[in-house]
Amino acid sequence: MSEQTLSNLMHEDRRFEPPADLAENANVKAEAYDRADADREAFWAEAAERLDWGRKWDQVLDWSNPPFAKWFVGGTLNAAVNCVDRHVEAGRGDKVALHWVGEPIHDGVADTRDITYAQLKDEVSKAANALTELGVQKGDRVAIYMPMIPEVVVAMLACARLGAPHTVVFGGFSADALASRITDCEAHVVITSDGGYRRGAASALKPAVDEAVEKTGDLVRNVLVVRRTGQDVDWHGREEGGRDVWWHDVVDNASTDHEPEMHDSEHPLYVMYTSGTTGKPKGILHTTGGYLAGTSYTHWSVFDLKPETDVYWCTADVGWVTGHSYMVYGPLANGATQVMYEGTPEKGRWWQIVQDYKVTIFYTAPTAIRTFMKQGREIPDGYDMSSLRLLGSVGEPINPEAYIWYREVIGGGRCPVVDTWWQTETGQIMISPLPGVTAGKPGSAMKALPGISADVVDDEARSVGNGNGGYLVLREPWPAMLRTLWGDDQRFKDTYWSRWPGLYFAGDGAKLDEDGDIWLLGRVDDVMNVSGHRLSTTEIESALVSHPKVAEAAVVGAADDTTGQAVCAFVILRDSAGDGGEDIVEELRKHVAKEIGAIAKPRQIMVVPELPKTRSGKIMRRLLKDVAEHREVGDVTTLADSTVMDLIKSKETSAPAED
Ligand code: PRX
Repeated sequence: MSEQTLSNLMHEDRRFEPPADLAENANVKAEAYDRADADREAFWAEAAERLDWGRKWDQVLDWSNPPFAKWFVGGTLNAAVNCVDRHVEAGRGDKVALHWVGEPIHDGVADTRDITYAQLKDEVSKAANALTELGVQKGDRVAIYMPMIPEVVVAMLACARLGAPHTVVFGGFSADALASRITDCEAHVVITSDGGYRRGAASALKPAVDEAVEKTGDLVRNVLVVRRTGQDVDWHGREEGGRDVWWHDVVDNASTDHEPEMHDSEHPLYVMYTSGTTGKPKGILHTTGGYLAGTSYTHWSVFDLKPETDVYWCTADVGWVTGHSYMVYGPLANGATQVMYEGTPEKGRWWQIVQDYKVTIFYTAPTAIRTFMKQGREIPDGYDMSSLRLLGSVGEPINPEAYIWYREVIGGGRCPVVDTWWQTETGQIMISPLPGVTAGKPGSAMKALPGISADVVDDEARSVGNGNGGYLVLREPWPAMLRTLWGDDQRFKDTYWSRWPGLYFAGDGAKLDEDGDIWLLGRVDDVMNVSGHRLSTTEIESALVSHPKVAEAAVVGAADDTTGQAVCAFVILRDSAGDGGEDIVEELRKHVAKEIGAIAKPRQIMVVPELPKTRSGKIMRRLLKDVAEHREVGDVTTLADSTVMDLIKSKETSAPAED
């Protein structure tokens, strides 16, 4: 975002007051900020009281060995019991937990399933018994690579029930990406499906698992496969000494009785891999008690959830943290009724679902909103969306145009928009308006939630004060914070806590406006945000360099109207590759998709003779970004060879790719 846009934004004077009835009946009122300020730990203890504990904690927070936090120390609980069993025991077994909507429509009828809390309890218990049968024990890691079908929720909760941390890998990632995650967390069991439906066609998943399992030697003992599409799969069943097991063979026949163990509050719940500034993804570790307290409290407060009457829908894929915190753990811990949709947002389908299920709370990403804006308001205008009462946004800064369109066209001008800032690492929403309290400003995530301490600081860690910009930091530990990086405490310290002692550095730039409200400005490190998904420049560079024709690569995130940022790559070919051949660009794009996944495919690749480097050899990505964004190239005086940029600019002819 340029300084110019930013100063326009900060003079944005539109304000949207909370609707009067929402404000009056809001779950959280303005007093919560003061209460949390007065005693942060007491505030979070109260949030943790929302959960059912086997044994209550002795200590709310142990921060004696920073940055390694322990929350609700000495307490025990079971995440699956909190998300499922307790609602059944409280007499709400017949309440729908998931209105699942499949992508295919046959003869005008969608493929749907409604799953009640009682049914979910049975399914989770059966899956827990089946996993036990497959040798999964407390502490073992289980990898999950699945489409958006109810079984993925069942699988995650079954793991949580057993205390076997899951690692869900987004179904769009490649076999290589899956293999590296399986290896890093040493998962012996993988849960997958034959495939899933995307854009009207069955798309296979099992072949990628087979390839990944092959790459990991003897590590994976079993692959548990849900039949979703019925497509052909290569099968190596146990009867022939293979690893493959059908879900319907072992889960459907398992007992619905499963005695849950209460796990320590700090017992690992899951590992979620996310891109960092190096080529190797980071395994973000979340544990049980704090994570569940943080996600359930924020889901209830930020979305003002009324579990009896609301129908909530978060459109995120379960392969990302938003799917974990605000589709699985937060909403289910709160006993919500929610929609889960298998497919992609083809024109009008989302709004049809809002209409059919009378969705009241809707949570999505700015990139989706911008795509719908482009398609035109006629499409959503064709549906009755009067059930909606609250809208949420996550994943990247929402530009004021998109905010206003979302509010007016989707929300009919009556729904508050909560722009929620958080990260895989934070586990829970950290900065957001409270819908019954805050007068929202289009484009600002507003203030840290009660119990959260965010600040914007300069290079010397001094608060910049209102009206100024700097780095976003978090000053105090919070319940759902990451505990470490899987198997790498040192990298955890170095990445988040070393820049300034005692401060968590989020990697984002931000500004405080004259009222002290926070405006997020995007990443200040080598992390890109493409359609709200995090990608590392280094990871894509490594993928490019692994191609035999490539000598060197530099990747930048360039501004893009729809996806926020787009991947733009500059490559130098090896001498032996000559000019690379006619299809070199397409060849390299496909290579990146194979190495990482289709989301990482560069929008644009430029083959260049040189890259701009400082005298110490560091690539000056800032200059490449200028080229990718068609700007006048900035200051080149620190370049080892200042003519390089002229060479690169003379090459700036390749057209952006279409897909
Ligand atoms: O740069 C911020 C951006 O997304 C990053 C976190 O990405 P990830 O861990 O993949 O989690 C995405 C979903 C929580 C942040 O460092 N980001 C996320 N939400 C916002 C945002 N930037 C601006 N405004 C937001 N609401």
